[in-house]
Amino acid sequence: MPSVVRNYIEAMSRIDPAIAVFCEAEQHKSEAAELARSLGLPCTVSTGNYAMLLVLTSERLELRQNGPGAPGGVAVDFASGLLRFRRLYGGGRKQPLAKAVGLKHNLHPTLLDATAGLGRDSFILAALGCTVLMVERSEIIAALLQDGLERAGNIPEIRPIINRMTIVKGDCRTLVQVPKQPDVIYLDPMYPHRTKSALVKKEMRLLRAIVGDDIDAPQLLEWALSQRAERVVVKRPKGAPGISGPEPTFVIKSKNSRFDVYKKV
Ligand SMILES: C[S@@+](CC[C@H](N)C(=O)[O-])C[C@H]1O[C@@H](n2cnc3c(N)ncnc32)[C@H](O)[C@@H]1O
Repeated sequence: MPSVVRNYIEAMSRIDPAIAVFCEAEQHKSEAAELARSLGLPCTVSTGNYAMLLVLTSERLELRQNGPGAPGGVAVDFASGLLRFRRLYGGGRKQPLAKAVGLKHNLHPTLLDATAGLGRDSFILAALGCTVLMVERSEIIAALLQDGLERAGNIPEIRPIINRMTIVKGDCRTLVQVPKQPDVIYLDPMYPHRTKSALVKKEMRLLRAIVGDDIDAPQLLEWALSQRAERVVVKRPKGAPGISGPEPTFVIKSKNSRFDVYKKV
């Protein structure tokens, strides 16, 4: 085995498969220490020993894989070019996501996004006029989302959208109370992809490294269907089997995904 490969393998095997908070900006040191304390993570000054880092830069909070050749960090950026494009040219109320949640002309359903993740679906739905309560059970992902909301709230162009989005940390099945019964519950649990395809994007790979595969999705669907919401919408990758449980009332297809819609009679 070439020595360069052996050295790399040795270096990688010394990495503790754990995550720490790292501060890149001197002026945010105490914020980083407070964040680490609230998440129960170490706050490190030397990055070498961790597989992943939650990095507080001078601009934002981002999740980074650590080590040689690691890709750039992932942050929640509601002002990104991609989300701007989806917001302005994504098809409005005619897009499959909007049809799945039942957006009609003057209807603005209230939504509970029970699997908020990086908040992109919630943002698109809030941009279309819905009021969205986002629930995220991973404290690390929720911290990224909170940071994204705070930064986006300072951007006049998207502030009205952000004002329709609220985040609650915790498992939606055990929340003591949901402030208001939503019209629609939206679910997009992690799907256990086994392929290393480039289609499984960096964001999804890092998200999965933190939250795992959401193998309790059937219980989540059962919980959602037991709530008073008129409709439950489940996002699945194209071609993936439905979550085990009752058959959906109807299905809406889009390019890479599918929405299984369960309507109460
Ligand atoms: C695939 S991601 C969602 C991506 C999101 N739709 C977006 O647009 O960014 C799934 C997320 O749901 C969260 N999740 C799964 N089950 C949950 C539950 N019972 N309560 C709260 N969050 C949950 C996971 O922690 C993960 O962050």
